[in-house]
Amino acid sequence: MSESVTVPWVRGRKRRDGHEPVVMVTAYDEPWARLVDAAGVDLILVGDTLAEIVLGYEDTLSVGMDDMVHHVGAVARARSRALVIGDMPWMSYHTEPFDAVRNAARLIRAGAGAVKLEGGRRRLGAVRAILDAEIPVIGHLGLTPQSVHVMGGYKVQGRQVEAAEDLVADAVALGEAGCFGIVLEGVPDVLADRVTAEISVPTIGIGAGGGCDGQVLVLHDLLGMSKRPAPKFVRRYAEVGEIVTSAVAQYAADVRSGAFPADAESYHASSELREALTSRA
Ligand code: KIV
Repeated sequence: MSESVTVPWVRGRKRRDGHEPVVMVTAYDEPWARLVDAAGVDLILVGDTLAEIVLGYEDTLSVGMDDMVHHVGAVARARSRALVIGDMPWMSYHTEPFDAVRNAARLIRAGAGAVKLEGGRRRLGAVRAILDAEIPVIGHLGLTPQSVHVMGGYKVQGRQVEAAEDLVADAVALGEAGCFGIVLEGVPDVLADRVTAEISVPTIGIGAGGGCDGQVLVLHDLLGMSKRPAPKFVRRYAEVGEIVTSAVAQYAADVRSGAFPADAESYHASSELREALTSRA
């Protein structure tokens, strides 16, 4: 468990070769990155869900490179065993391949060990250019939130045969281009299983069934801290939101009643200073 996770290590983690599933979770700042790393996750994704989960926007389209660089830096400063992956926000890789490389490099300079971007064959130009610059890339197919308007909402993808075959072809193309893994989001389990069987790099599922080579969840969903309704695929492992609200409510009550701070929580002066300050009162 102690050696740092590397891209080559991830690349080889196919379950069909007898490996345990890869564990990925999101984090957006130093304290949470430190805590999830201590829990032994393999990959920390600084996702563009930063937009909704931390910054209060409606969708992921609202964050840009400066936001992502800021938060990748915070996560990287946790100096984790886990590999930190920086998500490329919408419009950071959709124009010229040159822009894609420059933006990917900003995430690497901020401390990421790899980048993730959404889309299949239409994004191959960007993927190849980033890989050519020696920056590892993980793909993301299926329900890709940056395409919310094209999809007409957050809907499970690949339900029709043609769309499913398209997605398989996208996955094969990304694998052949050199991606070291592919996130599969919001697709039927049988489609995820087919992609997992077809490609030689790990699939990491989110709402893609139990047959992928790994799983990813948004941290605040699994901890019960997000305000958005949890999708069907989220399992809540704790109600941290309730714990936080009740702890802070107790603090507020103690301040208002005078129970906080107690004498032991205050600094005390020498008798000389005490006398000097109180004798003139
Ligand atoms: O941005 C994100 O958090 C993601 C995960 C949901 C895979 O892309």
